[in-house]
Amino acid sequence: PTSLYKAFRESGRSYIGTAWTMRANETAEPKIIKQDFNSITPENAQKWESTEPSRNNFTFEDSDRYVEYAKKHSLQIRCHNLVWHSQLPAWVTDGKFDNHTLISIMENHIKNLAGRYRKDCTQWDVVNEALNEDGTYRESVWYTTIGEAYLPIAFKLAAKYSKAKLFYNDYNIESNNAKTAGAARIVKLIKSYGVRIDGVGYQAHLASETTPTSGGPLPSQKVLEAALHATADLGVDVAYTEIDIRMNTPATPAKLAVQAEAYKTVAKSCLAVKRCIGMTVWGISDKYSWIPGVFAGEGAALLFDEDYNKKPAYYGFLAGLKK
Ligand code: G3I
Repeated sequence: PTSLYKAFRESGRSYIGTAWTMRANETAEPKIIKQDFNSITPENAQKWESTEPSRNNFTFEDSDRYVEYAKKHSLQIRCHNLVWHSQLPAWVTDGKFDNHTLISIMENHIKNLAGRYRKDCTQWDVVNEALNEDGTYRESVWYTTIGEAYLPIAFKLAAKYSKAKLFYNDYNIESNNAKTAGAARIVKLIKSYGVRIDGVGYQAHLASETTPTSGGPLPSQKVLEAALHATADLGVDVAYTEIDIRMNTPATPAKLAVQAEAYKTVAKSCLAVKRCIGMTVWGISDKYSWIPGVFAGEGAALLFDEDYNKKPAYYGFLAGLKK
């Protein structure tokens, strides 16, 4: 088939998804979702600053739209996310809460947000980006106040209030490095508390050539597979959760061809690992990608160009996810 998710399902896997921001008068993206994706991730709508901007004041209007859309269109939904250091309002970060109070704040947030969608979310990113590049813990308000126990505590609470598959999610863990080992350590830590963790999300914000903000071209398929195995072999599912593969802009036909190969390699690495259940790209059209706004001079990272045309990357990705 010429549908990403249908091809991947024929290969026996579960879903191909995209991050999504609903925009007024944007009609092209819903059509592409219908054709190519069977899962969505709300790009920003479920983050803490969007859902609990002040203490115990919950705002779910935006988030609800995605959950309802997924239900109406029979899509899976990767819910994103419950506990993160970023897009966390100042009332949490600067509140100087003690251990006990911060845990109760975490529980109230998870109870209200995850509990609201108890049976609706297919997956939850329970904890997002807890690690530094060297594999040590990031000094977030969660870690400095509660210690590493905040991870099992968050997963325990998520399991209490949600039926979703529970994921730890991070970036720069695709090349089987010290940070990947950190993710494996987290899986073991959570399990050592007797708490459920179902999967690890590999964000996969990658590059197809060396750029000022990336370590270099794509890791080899072998390395990608080894990184997936580093956690999958501990008995959890794995998924690519935020794929984009950037380049130095402007794009040229030669660079787009290299990018197409890179997408193919990523898809093949997932297919080669039994427990890799699905892949999500971080946006549909290059028109709205977060990359150029954050990494000046880089971009063109997605499967569809700014005019919604399928790029060589689309065909490379499609080829890679066919058995
Ligand atoms: O909505 C406001 C708007 O009202 C305001 O005028 C404008 C001015 O800055 O900001 C708008 O909010 C922006 C929001 O995106 C919605 O567009 C934020 O500034 C901006 O920081 C935010 O960026 C998001 C970023 O996460 C924040 O960390 C990106 O869209 C989103 O793609 C990105 O996604 C993250 C994942 O959640 C976690 N992994 C990394 C990934 C890429 O950074």
